[in-house]
Amino acid sequence: MAVQILPSLLAADYGALAADITRAYRSGADALHLDIMDAHFVPNLSFGPDIVKLCRRVEPAFYRHVHLMMTRPDLYLEVFAKAGAQTIQIHVEADCDLHVELPRIRALGVRPAVVLNPETPVEAVYPYLALCDEVLVMTVHPGYGGQSFISDCLPKVATLRARAPHLDIMVDGGVNAQTAIDAVRAGANQLVAGSFLFKQADMAAAVSALRAACAAAC
Ligand code: DX5
Ligand code: ZN
Repeated sequence: MAVQILPSLLAADYGALAADITRAYRSGADALHLDIMDAHFVPNLSFGPDIVKLCRRVEPAFYRHVHLMMTRPDLYLEVFAKAGAQTIQIHVEADCDLHVELPRIRALGVRPAVVLNPETPVEAVYPYLALCDEVLVMTVHPGYGGQSFISDCLPKVATLRARAPHLDIMVDGGVNAQTAIDAVRAGANQLVAGSFLFKQADMAAAVSALRAACAAAC
């Protein structure tokens, strides 16, 4: 399974956002990861649908993954779909019925995905595997970029890969050249990297190096 690399815009330079969206696109990364935080589900605020629209305007061909760290993501599905989200990721810990909301995401023409926090057991997503295309296993406590990778989450990746070989399995939080290898060996095929990629002077070289390391690890 080819590994996809997704820069997280949370780590971009907000004073030069359009330029950083283009820098991420031209790095050869597969898609852009957009972190939406509501200051309730997580203790931080980030940005909203206007930034998703900005990404679509600046680089229309750059695929947009939208990660909703929100207590009530169900109230915003149409808004983010309309803004240009192509995958919408909602947390299994959110205060809504995923049996209802995942089909709603698909009906909006968007790929549905489920996310689980580090402390959430893997079994919590089993009822939804048939309703989504992707599972995101958080490898930090959501809310901030630049945290350390929690390796204890990797057995959940391995369990999911064995149970659902066809699903995309994403890892998000603390991904760098070393932890990427660990994640891919556990079975992940999509890697979000925020601070590691945006701090590089040459993001394209870093994306290529990550890809090469992941290919060697498979
Ligand atoms: C954390 C976010 C992550 C974050 C990753 O709440 O979901 O996507 O941007 O940032 P790094 O790669 O710096 O850990
Ligand atoms: Zn994220």
